[in-house]
Amino acid sequence: MQLDHVRALVTGGASGLGRHLVTRLAESGATVAFCDLGEDRVQQAAAEIGLGVRGFACDVSSEDDVVATVSAAADALGGLDLLVNNAGIFRDGLLIKPDKATGEVRRMTLSQWQQVIDVDLTGPFLCAREFAAQVVERQVPASLIVNISSVARHGNPGQSNYSAAKAGLVADTRLWAVELARYGTRVAAVAPGFVRTPILDAMRPEVLDGMVQRVPLRRVGEPEHIWQAVEFLIRCDYVTGTCVDVDGGIRL
Ligand SMILES: NC(=O)c1ccc[n+]([C@@H]2O[C@H](COP(=O)([O-])OP(=O)(O)OC[C@H]3O[C@@H](n4cnc5c(N)ncnc54)[C@H](O)[C@@H]3O)[C@@H](O)[C@H]2O)c1
Repeated sequence: MQLDHVRALVTGGASGLGRHLVTRLAESGATVAFCDLGEDRVQQAAAEIGLGVRGFACDVSSEDDVVATVSAAADALGGLDLLVNNAGIFRDGLLIKPDKATGEVRRMTLSQWQQVIDVDLTGPFLCAREFAAQVVERQVPASLIVNISSVARHGNPGQSNYSAAKAGLVADTRLWAVELARYGTRVAAVAPGFVRTPILDAMRPEVLDGMVQRVPLRRVGEPEHIWQAVEFLIRCDYVTGTCVDVDGGIRL
C-alpha cells in the first residue's frame, strides 16, 4: 500500500503511541482519523496534531460507539484502508495476594479482569469487524489491520488480564489474516516492549531503571520504533498473519 493513498483510523489516538502513529501517518501524506475517549479531549488532540486529522469520541469497548465511529470515519474519509487497533489499558494485580498482616487472601477482581478484556480484546474485535465490513461494502481493494499487542502476551506476572488480552489479539491476528485475505485485507500485529509514552514517564526512575536492565539493548523503545514497524507493514504487501516484536530483545 502506498502511504500517501492510505485512509487510516487509529484507535486511542489522543495520546502516547497512538498519537505518534496518527502524526506520522498524516505527515506521510495519509488521510487520518482517530478515536479516543471524551469529545473535548479528542477535539483538543485533533487541534494540537493538526495536519487535517479528524477526531471521533468513541469507547472501543462499546458496540454502538464502534459501529457509529467506523461508519462516520469511513464516510468522512471516503472509505478506510487501514485500521490500527492501538487503544489499550492495564489494571495490574496478582491473581491472589495474601495480606501480610491479616493473612486474608486478596483476589484480582472480576471487574479488574473484565475492564482490560473489554478494551484490549473486545475493542479490537469490534473495530476489526466493522472495518472489515466496510471494506466489503465499499469494495476497498487492498487494506490492512494492525493490532498493537505487547511482549506481555507471553505471560507477564501481575498481568493475567492484560497478557490474556494481548495473546488473544495475536491469535485473532493470525485467523483474521486467513479469513480476510479473500477480501484483500492483510492483518498483522506489532508487539512493543517498553516504549517511552506517558505511562513510562510517570514511573519512578529506579523502577524504570530496573526494567531497562532486563532489556538486552539496555534502553526503552521510542514511539518512532513502533511507527517504523507499522510503516513496514503498510508498505510490504506480502506480509500478513504475523506479529512483529519491537522490544529490544526482552523475553519474559
Ligand atoms: N507504552 C508501552 O510501553 C507499551 C508496551 C506494550 C504495548 N503497549 C500498547 O500500546 C498501546 C498504546 O499504549 P500507550 O503506551 O500509548 O498508552 P496511552 O495510555 O498513552 O494511550 C492509550 C490511549 O488509548 C485510549 N483509550 C483507553 N481506553 C479506551 C477506550 N475504551 N476507547 C478508546 N480509547 C481508549 C486512552 O485514552 C489513551 O489515549 C496499548 O494498546 C498498549 O497496551 C504499550
